[in-house]
Amino acid sequence: MEQGPNNIERIGVIGAGLMGSGIAEVAAKAGVDVCVVEASPVAAETGLNRIQKSIDRAVNKSKMTEDEGAGVMSRISVTEDLDSLGDRQMVIEAVVEDEQIKVDLFRRLDELVSPDAILASNTSSIPIMKLAMATSRPEKVVGIHFFNPVPVLDLVELVISLHTSPETHEVARSFSANQLGKSVIESQDRAGFIVNALLIPYVLSAIRMFESGFASKEDIDQGMVVGCAHPMGPLALADLIGLDTTMAVAESLYEEFREQLYAPPPLLARMVDAGLLGRKAGRGFYEYSR
Ligand code: 3HC
Repeated sequence: MEQGPNNIERIGVIGAGLMGSGIAEVAAKAGVDVCVVEASPVAAETGLNRIQKSIDRAVNKSKMTEDEGAGVMSRISVTEDLDSLGDRQMVIEAVVEDEQIKVDLFRRLDELVSPDAILASNTSSIPIMKLAMATSRPEKVVGIHFFNPVPVLDLVELVISLHTSPETHEVARSFSANQLGKSVIESQDRAGFIVNALLIPYVLSAIRMFESGFASKEDIDQGMVVGCAHPMGPLALADLIGLDTTMAVAESLYEEFREQLYAPPPLLARMVDAGLLGRKAGRGFYEYSR
């Protein structure tokens, strides 16, 4: 970790799902003390197990010693109590992609967390201003958007709202780039930001192609893996992102731009209704052993 005068030493992460646990892991690896808040004990345990598995994998591949791995785990604590975040310098929210839930959470965080602290969201698509305006410190609210799997993918997308102050912008940039070692791109505050505004219409097109019987799911995915050297095809990627998240991002984009290319196809909606949410549910477009 690069040392700097403005280094963040203590963060909170809300949510121990796929993204929250990944964010906690990379921050703890960078030497940051991480307090994870998770309301569901089952989700908390799954999240901690996921982090432990990822650390074990790094130790087995000699990317980290056992002691270093134990050090990372010791910097992560999990609680059900939001009040534990009072002393945090930054809190990164990574709960389900639901605007009302996030707005309510930002309102509560604003009351609980030190007034100097930055409140960040890992939202995939919800405009940061909607969260900022639920607080009394909109200048300290910023988007810090990670990519799944967080320990593997090097990118962070910073989202700067019309109210984000230059100081908050700089601390968030330095935390992401210098402390976590991520590549940083910056987006203005539009639903979907840069990556999801491009990625989601592509994934939705693949779902429409499959739904219309135009091609098999295997051929659609193979086309993009073998023909375009993508690491995975769009339907396997939708399963990795989670079909509920894909649907929620599409809805945010559609609400913002009202363009047909962002409209979720009926098959996606029905799969979400059916609980076929992708890898995390054991079944989406493909089946997964858990
Ligand atoms: N945690 C830690 N390490 C992991 C991991 C995880 N969850 N998953 C994979 N890895 C590591 C492996 O240990 C391996 O490391 P090594 O190269 O040192 O051996 C490396 O990643 C490659 O893993 P595998 O060999 O097991 O598998 P693949 O080569 O098939 O890669 C993948 C798997 C990394 C998921 C790759 O297919 C990939 O990058 N896919 C694209 C993912 C993508 O596009 N994500 C963005 C989604 S959009 C998003 O997140 C935004 C949100 O807002 C919706």
